[in-house]
Amino acid sequence: MAGLAGEHGTPLYVYDGELIRERCKAFKGAFSGLPAQIRCLYAIKANTNLAILRIIRDEGFGADIVSSGELDAAISAGFDPDMMMYTSNSKSLADMEAAIEAGVHMTVGNMTELEYFKKAGGERIAFRVNPDVDAKTHPKISTSLAGSKFGLHFSEGIAFEAARDAVQMGLKVAGIHCHIGSNVKDMSGFLQAAEKMVLFAEKLKEELDIMLDFIDLGGGLGVPHEGEKVVPVEEFGAAYGPVIEDAVARLGYEPQFWFEPGRYLVAEAGVLLAKVNSVKKTPTKSFVNADAGFNDLIRPAMYDAYHHIRVLGKSGEDAVYDIAGNLCESGDILGKGRMLPKVSAGDIIAVENAGAYGFSMASNYNSMPFPAEVLVRGERADVIRDRQSIQELYLRQRMPDDL
Ligand code: LLP
Repeated sequence: MAGLAGEHGTPLYVYDGELIRERCKAFKGAFSGLPAQIRCLYAIKANTNLAILRIIRDEGFGADIVSSGELDAAISAGFDPDMMMYTSNSKSLADMEAAIEAGVHMTVGNMTELEYFKKAGGERIAFRVNPDVDAKTHPKISTSLAGSKFGLHFSEGIAFEAARDAVQMGLKVAGIHCHIGSNVKDMSGFLQAAEKMVLFAEKLKEELDIMLDFIDLGGGLGVPHEGEKVVPVEEFGAAYGPVIEDAVARLGYEPQFWFEPGRYLVAEAGVLLAKVNSVKKTPTKSFVNADAGFNDLIRPAMYDAYHHIRVLGKSGEDAVYDIAGNLCESGDILGKGRMLPKVSAGDIIAVENAGAYGFSMASNYNSMPFPAEVLVRGERADVIRDRQSIQELYLRQRMPDDL
């Protein structure tokens, strides 16, 4: 790993391609034997590198996408449009036209989008609904609370009226979709949401004679960051067995059930390597100054997320450090109060669990170029994205003639 940092420079994202494959197989395997057809879509926002998309597509996943950019990335990586679902909360008419033209499945989450969908020539619609379920995760990644911006709420009959309008507009209601939140570590929210989705499907059948092709239950399965308890993937899959069995009996037909994992497939397969520029003692603490910051990995600053940090090639416990990023913000801290071996300038640190929402949320703040990305498969290490150059930061800027 330190060799890769030496060869390709830092900051550097390094991914383990074999672990991504293992996670894909484990996720799909968790649903084997369930009494309905299951479709697994990778929420590509977690990590959109084309090489990673290709691995996950090869493992039989479709793609959950949220923008015209992600549509293009998924098509470039070879995903079948019929295995793609578009789920953003705010789409323009142009976004919807492009997605419908490409032949992907599309959710709408408000009445204006329903009109856009019709106007864009869409025929088979899915509704993103808001089941008002507490995912018990960080508030910034809870998506199905009554006050959240996502989906058509079940309450006040909003979701039902949208479905009735769609039928009146001559559209086929093909599916319903929800996503309760991300990094969820408890099964109860998932199961409550599933139960509410099935109740809604029953109402659609009884009152509007709608038989859905699919019920999409979204993503959200969490991964451990501090060794805490999470739902093992086998338990996650198995827990849906009785729900699906009951749903099929109640509905009298067999919709497919779709799932949209993002983080689970890629988080633990990625590390961010950074070099230590300097170490300093202040009257209150010791800082490790790294050459990466929240422009590379925003999760600690944005969600107070814990990412385990190691010093490569060193062991033992010497002192407690705050690992500071290189941006001009006090909040740019990658890890607080970490007991580490003696750290010196030139050491390489590895910030773990960085494969999901790491590079995909990176920015150029403080004119920091995007880091490079390397994919390791056994003995092989391939660069899958070159480091951005400083010149590239200015490529699309223009200087008015009179300045
Ligand atoms: N489906 C939909 C509609 C979503 O909005 C998301 C994530 C997923 C699936 C995948 O969720 P996952 O399995 O990855 O939890 N940037 C945040 C996470 C934001 C997730 C947004 N939506 C973070 O770094 O924790």
